Amino acid sequence: MTDRNHIKIKDFNTNVFDDLNKNWMLLTAGDFQSGDFNAMTVSWGFFGTFWHKPVVITGVRPQRHTLSFLEKYDSFTLCAFPPEFQENLNYCGTKSGKEVNKIQECGLIPIPGDTVNAPGFEQAELIIECKILYADAMKGKCFLDKSLIKSIYPDRDFHRLFFGEVMKINGNTSYRKKKQIKNNNQT
Ligand SMILES: Cc1cc2nc3c(=O)[nH]c(=O)nc-3n(C[C@H](O)[C@H](O)[C@H](O)COP(=O)(O)O)c2cc1C
Repeated sequence: MTDRNHIKIKDFNTNVFDDLNKNWMLLTAGDFQSGDFNAMTVSWGFFGTFWHKPVVITGVRPQRHTLSFLEKYDSFTLCAFPPEFQENLNYCGTKSGKEVNKIQECGLIPIPGDTVNAPGFEQAELIIECKILYADAMKGKCFLDKSLIKSIYPDRDFHRLFFGEVMKINGNTSYRKKKQIKNNNQT
């Protein structure tokens, strides 16, 4: 069991670039209670503010099985795991839930969310629960830099973007800002 506790947005300490692009995260959408959910590895996305709310944006290509869960249900979670789970994340990023039960194969234990229907995982060191507020697909005609279409979307399988309001963050102490200790020594 990873030692997770509730972390307020103001206390959330993370390197938004490393969490996704370098360390990868597991995106899970669906419903814990009915067991109808799927997960996939993601490394592109955004953390920020929109509509005065803390928001995460995740990008999912149309061929992903997880997409149908994002479209059917109204929430998702993003989970980060300790380094020893990198191989599992690689598995969840190369196999499709259409063919295998990735969660079972990886020995990941789904747990209910506190605020959303999408599950988190027992072994995660960070679980970000999000309620989907907005979704839209990127469009080829909107790319100002057309070289991106050539290099990233030769099949024109543009990402669908999901804007999720951050409803709850549970993480271990490494994701919590250290308290500032006042130093009154006038040296
Ligand atoms: C490190 C890594 C990062 C990935 N990031 C994304 C991503 O941001 N968006 C996406 O659509 N696919 C991404 N993928 C690919 C999906 O995780 C992969 O196609 C997965 O098998 C989809 O599973 P599903 O069909 O069960 O949804 C990534 C894969 C890896 C290994």
